[in-house]
Amino acid sequence: MASTYRSADCDQYRMEYSKPHRELEPPAREIAVVDEALSALVAEGILPHAKYDHQKMLAHRKAVRDAFEIPWTAITPRMQRLLYAINAIAQPANLIAAGVFCGNTFISNAGAAVGPGACYRARQLLAVEIDPAKAALAERNVRKIDPTGTARVLAEDAVDTARNFPEPIDLMYLDADGTAQQGKGIYLTILQAAWDRIRPGCVVLAHNSFNCAERLEHYLSFVRDPANMRASVNVLFDREGLEVSIR
Ligand SMILES: C[S@@+](CC[C@H](N)C(=O)[O-])C[C@H]1O[C@@H](n2cnc3c(N)ncnc32)[C@H](O)[C@@H]1O
Repeated sequence: MASTYRSADCDQYRMEYSKPHRELEPPAREIAVVDEALSALVAEGILPHAKYDHQKMLAHRKAVRDAFEIPWTAITPRMQRLLYAINAIAQPANLIAAGVFCGNTFISNAGAAVGPGACYRARQLLAVEIDPAKAALAERNVRKIDPTGTARVLAEDAVDTARNFPEPIDLMYLDADGTAQQGKGIYLTILQAAWDRIRPGCVVLAHNSFNCAERLEHYLSFVRDPANMRASVNVLFDREGLEVSIR
């Protein structure tokens, strides 16, 4: 089933990309909106429940604020909380995050398993960024929070990483913006390159389901087709949006 969760204030809630840590609303409001989104994911059978540790999420947020160099980001505080919560609940052993820029999107996912927000033990949390300088920045950032190496960043084309990853994938996060011709249309290429290892129950997250919906037309048609994915929910509570799908 394909459905949409849209918060009433979706059009008004927005961040300045150069101020990643600025609080945009009272914490109770942020928690309530993210809880509504999580409930929509539970209702569609994408998540088994909507409970996560709020103190650990805040410890994760503080570690990122203190340690990460973030030139800019489009990850709003609501999205950071939702990504952390989805990972804390789904607890993926193997995660691939594609197109991670400075690593903020990646650690929003991986922070449920490494660093002070960790609530489970993962096997391999792999981020991939095609630009070597950005990949090096992301790797430096991630190392400050995760000295263990469970979470790591490769400088590579995410299509190759997806094609070559040798194990079943439990969660995939898509944010690569491809070439000028492809743009975010590359999401579908990456997903299909990994398709035979996208195990049943794998959760696939696609950032920019709202502001890049046109470029994502083929991707969104694919994940909303019940022949491919069991369920898919378009979460709209900021200007970017997140399509959350389960195989
Ligand atoms: C726009 S950024 C994502 C930023 C993120 N939404 C945030 O708010 O921090 C997309 C990234 O994907 C990377 N990228 C583009 N094509 C890629 C590919 N084929 N494989 C891996 N990374 C890629 C770009 O270099 C860029 O850093």
